[in-house]
Amino acid sequence: MAEKKIILVTGGSGLVGQAIRRVTEENPRPDEEFVFLSSKDADLKDPVETAKLFEKYKPTHVIHLAAMVGGLFSNMRRNLDFLRNNLLMNDNVLQNSYKFGVKKVISCLSTCIFPDKTSYPIDETMIHNGPPHSSNFGYSYAKRLIDVQNHAYHQQHGCHFTSVIPTNVFGAHDNYNLEDSHVIPGLIHKAFIAKKEGKPLVVFGSGKPLRQFIYSLDLAKLFLWVLREYEEIDPIILSVDEAAEVSIEQVSRLVAEAFELEHGIVLDSSKADGQFKKTASNKKLRQYLADFEFTPLKEAIDHSVKWFIDNYEIARK
Ligand SMILES: NC(=O)c1ccc[n+]([C@@H]2O[C@H](COP(=O)([O-])OP(=O)(O)OC[C@H]3O[C@@H](n4cnc5c(N)ncnc54)[C@H](OP(=O)(O)O)[C@@H]3O)[C@@H](O)[C@H]2O)c1
Repeated sequence: MAEKKIILVTGGSGLVGQAIRRVTEENPRPDEEFVFLSSKDADLKDPVETAKLFEKYKPTHVIHLAAMVGGLFSNMRRNLDFLRNNLLMNDNVLQNSYKFGVKKVISCLSTCIFPDKTSYPIDETMIHNGPPHSSNFGYSYAKRLIDVQNHAYHQQHGCHFTSVIPTNVFGAHDNYNLEDSHVIPGLIHKAFIAKKEGKPLVVFGSGKPLRQFIYSLDLAKLFLWVLREYEEIDPIILSVDEAAEVSIEQVSRLVAEAFELEHGIVLDSSKADGQFKKTASNKKLRQYLADFEFTPLKEAIDHSVKWFIDNYEIARK
């Protein structure tokens, strides 16, 4: 039998980490043992605490998800914190992975770190081609440096450290905070309140901007493929096809339908729209996995809404 892999998942209590947990628990493999961590196990900003964690678990593989993540407004207010906290976590995880001889590390970038001025669709070669949007430059540069570090560890020490680039993720265990959440969990929480009050779901902006959304369980399956099969140091975009891009209005209607809102949605065009589109190409992924089937958006939203209703008390909000 193959040597047993001990896979440390940093950020294991978050949206993506919990999805990986569910997928691995449903299909366990005898040669893989997963350890899911949260900030309660160690503050990864702290080099000593991080080293102790590696000493304790002696991982052979690391999926590095832990990050300071936030919406537009907290990014704008705290660019320095997003920069420093993420730099520290990433450096501690990668340096300890090197010191403890970890065979493979997969870190997580994001499509929102790409240059502000770019051509579409964006692809993996464009990450460093210009400044990111000024609203989240701290988060973006910290994330971009993961790719720089991965190449440097590979060049100097032969390490197999790589990264993936998901588009907007949603699913169970999301952050539903009304002030500081991503699009879908924010809509789900607002629709939950609208349902209770017998009102329509009010959607900020024109509803016209386009986005690609990936269901957390689909992303989790792709993460496991990267863990087992992907050999490159260069990152890979994990996204639905360009044809699956949807407008904010379409996605809002799906959320309203899942709640069976009597009064549907109302678009509040007096509020600002974000970037019109951020289309990402999944051509590289499709070259590897031509037949991967993403969960239809309606089905994934129905599941996510059901999870929020069933878990309202424990949901992050
Ligand atoms: N959500 C998206 O749409 C999206 C899109 C693209 C990329 N990503 C990336 O995907 C990764 C996972 O995101 P997510 O949405 O799953 O995030 P999340 O739900 O906010 O989870 C963040 C995780 O990081 C942990 N963490 C935060 N600070 C830490 C610290 N100082 N020490 C140790 N652990 C710490 C949290 O632990 P606690 O639970 O203990 O706080 C939690 O497990 C991140 O790297 C993010 O940048 C997310």
